[in-house]
Amino acid sequence: MKQITSQSREHLEEAVAKFLSARHCVALTGAGISVESGIDDFRSPGGLWSKFPPDEYGTISVFHTHPEKSWKLFRALGRGLVGKKPIQAHQILAQLEEMKKLNGIVTQNIDNLHQDAGSSVVLEIHGNHHYLQCLGCGDVCKPPVDVLEEEKLPLCSHCDRVLKPNVVLFGENVRQLDEIHNLLHRCDLLMVIGTSAQVYPAAALPEQVKYSGGLIYEFNIEETVLTHGERSGGVGSDYFFHGSAAAMLELFLDGMTRKD
Ligand code: APR
Repeated sequence: MKQITSQSREHLEEAVAKFLSARHCVALTGAGISVESGIDDFRSPGGLWSKFPPDEYGTISVFHTHPEKSWKLFRALGRGLVGKKPIQAHQILAQLEEMKKLNGIVTQNIDNLHQDAGSSVVLEIHGNHHYLQCLGCGDVCKPPVDVLEEEKLPLCSHCDRVLKPNVVLFGENVRQLDEIHNLLHRCDLLMVIGTSAQVYPAAALPEQVKYSGGLIYEFNIEETVLTHGERSGGVGSDYFFHGSAAAMLELFLDGMTRKD
């Protein structure tokens, strides 16, 4: 693993050169890319799971047995998303897509900020919090305007069942796996940005790319289980951009424009 920071740029030129010669780059993003948009991540100190333990609030079985409890988490999540905008980290990924240097994004985030930044190939493995879904009749709809204020639980207009946000709870199947595997099977360089790489199946994607001979570029404020390959016998990130997603992606893009 070669580390790059704002202060030590020794490996930046080499990383940029390999990125420019890669044939099929994809980004895997997590909550860390949206922290600088003002959205708390899950596992950093003070993150959402410290306030709403996931096994107590975030599972599909709690939604079935105590939907009012799940809706405490959903409302906190929803309030955290109100008025949030993409920052340059999201915008740089949209720019790389426009430059035809990024083929798509697999995001674990539910905040829609990649789409808001202009990215067009965004696969949302954990769904999207801007819509509600009915597990009874499958309807997906926009939430009522007062959904974050009201105590009452939103009900499906077709079958009267309690609605949930169109996101994947623990114990539910993740989304778009076929499209994700299609996007990744030709991937020879994966940018892994702002994720603790702890939740499967998303956490298995970097190793999948690595084992098929691809490169891993990790962007994070701290080392993760992926950085040194703790789970895969030391097969970890090839380059570790150690810093905030915004600053490190800006440094990377700057290195690219210098190279051109
Ligand atoms: N820039 C880059 N990385 C950051 C920043 C930042 N400004 N701030 C935090 N991070 C990093 C943290 O160091 C951590 O590694 O982002 C990561 C966030 O990790 P998590 O909170 O675990 O979020 P994520 O990896 O997206 O979680 C995956 O778990 O609970 C589920 O469904 C939830 O989609 C989520 C999934």
